[in-house]
Amino acid sequence: PRPILLTRHGESMDNVRGRIGGDTELSEAGGVYSKKLANFVEKRLKSERAASIWTSTLQRTILTASPIGGFPKIQWRALDEIYAGVCDGMTYEEIKKNMPEEYQARKKDKLRYRYPRGESYLDVIQRLEPVIIELERQRAPVVVISHQAVLRALYAYFADRPLKEIPHIEVPLHTIIEIQMGVTGVQEKRYKLMD
Ligand code: G3H
Repeated sequence: PRPILLTRHGESMDNVRGRIGGDTELSEAGGVYSKKLANFVEKRLKSERAASIWTSTLQRTILTASPIGGFPKIQWRALDEIYAGVCDGMTYEEIKKNMPEEYQARKKDKLRYRYPRGESYLDVIQRLEPVIIELERQRAPVVVISHQAVLRALYAYFADRPLKEIPHIEVPLHTIIEIQMGVTGVQEKRYKLMD
């Protein structure tokens, strides 16, 4: 069995401000997480020569990966966060106030709701297909550093969770979800490195 480690980026400045999307840097806590993650990964994958680190193309995942030494890093656009289109950079409060119909429509069907000029969860699930194929092909461990919506979809795939649950799965910050693919099925461990 070989592990796949899933984690969100360290806390970003937009996380602190409650803004969705964007491409900001890490907060101080996010920076601390990046170092703790590096420590964890370097120990956990010490003798795994062929392991690799996959990030999105957004700063917050690249910065989270940056302290990790000794493994190749690959950027995937398909691992970028769900794109909120015209709502990118807004807070949920602002969306509720300025675009109440959009807010309600999303609340009603979060899986299928597509942001104007943006994406739905179904869109994200679809664009993840090549990533999943490549993850399945790998024989060595992979560390995936991505975003909440994307990791919900990836996690659901490996944990065999139904489609309709995907937008509501909890993927907390600063926590590593380790998935082990064995002959008897999938095993999962969680490591909360900080609050
Ligand atoms: O910025 C986007 C969030 O990570 C996605 O969360 O789909 O629950 O709004 P949400």
